[in-house]
Amino acid sequence: MPNQSSPMAPHVLIFPLPLQGPLNCMLNLAELLCLAGVGVTFINTDHVHRRLLACSTSANYYAKYPNLKFQTVPDGLPEENPRTADQIGNLIESMEAVASPIFRQMVSPDSVSCLIADGIFAFAAEVAGDVGVPLLYFDTISPCGLWSYLCMPKLIEDGEFPFPDDDLDKLVPGIPGMEGIIRRRDLPNFYRTDDLNIPIIQLVLKEAKHIPLAQGLIFNTFQELEAPVLSQFQNISPQIYAVGPLHTHLKSRSPPPQDRSTSIWKEDKSCISWLDSQPSKSVLFVSIGSLAVVTKRQLVELWHGLINSGTRFLWVQRPDSVVEDNIPEFDEISLELLKNTKERGFIVKWAPQEEVLAHPAVGGFFTHSGWNSTLESIVEGKPMICWPYFVDQQVNSRFVEEVWKLGLDMKDKCDRRVIEGMIRELMGSRKEEFSEKADAMAKLARKSVGHGGSSFLALDCLVEDIKFMRIPRN
Ligand code: UDX
Repeated sequence: MPNQSSPMAPHVLIFPLPLQGPLNCMLNLAELLCLAGVGVTFINTDHVHRRLLACSTSANYYAKYPNLKFQTVPDGLPEENPRTADQIGNLIESMEAVASPIFRQMVSPDSVSCLIADGIFAFAAEVAGDVGVPLLYFDTISPCGLWSYLCMPKLIEDGEFPFPDDDLDKLVPGIPGMEGIIRRRDLPNFYRTDDLNIPIIQLVLKEAKHIPLAQGLIFNTFQELEAPVLSQFQNISPQIYAVGPLHTHLKSRSPPPQDRSTSIWKEDKSCISWLDSQPSKSVLFVSIGSLAVVTKRQLVELWHGLINSGTRFLWVQRPDSVVEDNIPEFDEISLELLKNTKERGFIVKWAPQEEVLAHPAVGGFFTHSGWNSTLESIVEGKPMICWPYFVDQQVNSRFVEEVWKLGLDMKDKCDRRVIEGMIRELMGSRKEEFSEKADAMAKLARKSVGHGGSSFLALDCLVEDIKFMRIPRN
């Protein structure tokens, strides 16, 4: 890809989707690039930036990088919009209308060597093409998830999507590299429609067109985890950079201070003291990430399942994560459950998740299978019970159980008996088996970001390419 020597100091514009998961990944990448001597302008939305500064010591922390600056753009949504999972379509639409014209003005071929934008931003390919600046897409979801998005046109052509019948357990043969693995129910939840004209399907079909326009693709993964899927991307993109797990990669190149946080919720550190007093590997950490929501009915099932399993648990109940449904007696039930929780459980609104997963008292993770959470669990060698909510999470949870053998996939179920059974399996009867697998994968993950590892070398290659990257001019 490099085609001529660079006359100016390398400088990238990084533009994440303004959500917690993508923000974490892109900030880690920004720091890694700064450490390698690449200048970075990091574009946050006003909303995310305000929350980042309010919840952490970020302002002081990032001041240590003279070659990193933040710029903000509006996301176009009213302040009171909760920006939860059901709002993502609106958020993307609004970013396209309101933020993209401002972004276009920031991009000058004289000062910007390259753009790094979230893969969902179609407008980034247009801007890069019009202005003549190279573009790398960084899709911060899992490569296995993204690949299942990008195969949608093929699945339509093959007559596999929309599904010809209601059997969600049928294998999907038409995704190269995933034959014999993915059933219909393991495809991202938006595949469960007959209507190809709905906005989310149109968005994914659009993504399949613009992703190959970039000069390369960056992924938060490592070769040893996803080599077969990564090799599929080589057919649609000139360069693939698998540089993850980024949070561990950053620690391996330049360990950040203990209080570094990229959270846009205030972390409750009291759970660490509680964990300190629990036996080794006895606690199940429960979290559904930054976007997913549960109904009150699901919350009650989950809670009963946790208590009936007899295990200790640390549970993140994000304030905006419970949606209304009709259980009139909910307040009494939850009071009773809260009473029972006191014996073995601890509830917080937001936890320092990386620190929690690294804690020796944690023996397993009940997760929504967001990609950051999955990688954070893998690095710490913690087996998972996967309860996916949407997008790539349905694919990730299948890979956790079926391909990597790192846990159990509970998708499409929420019943207290099933939950209790799976917890007993993960934390009890099959604990050793899962721990062994998880330890082995954790070693590979850490090795990949250590000196000479696959992700370490991929990052060096990315930095070199950025330094010499230019769109050929006629
Ligand atoms: C969703 C997708 O599912 C994910 O795959 C995609 O990459 C982005 O959108 P989200 O719900 O944010 O993501 O989940 P995840 O990707 O797991 O990211 C959540 C982040 O928040 C993790 O880095 C996690 O460490 C952090 N977190 C979560 C906390 O710091 N504290 C908490 O209490 C919970």
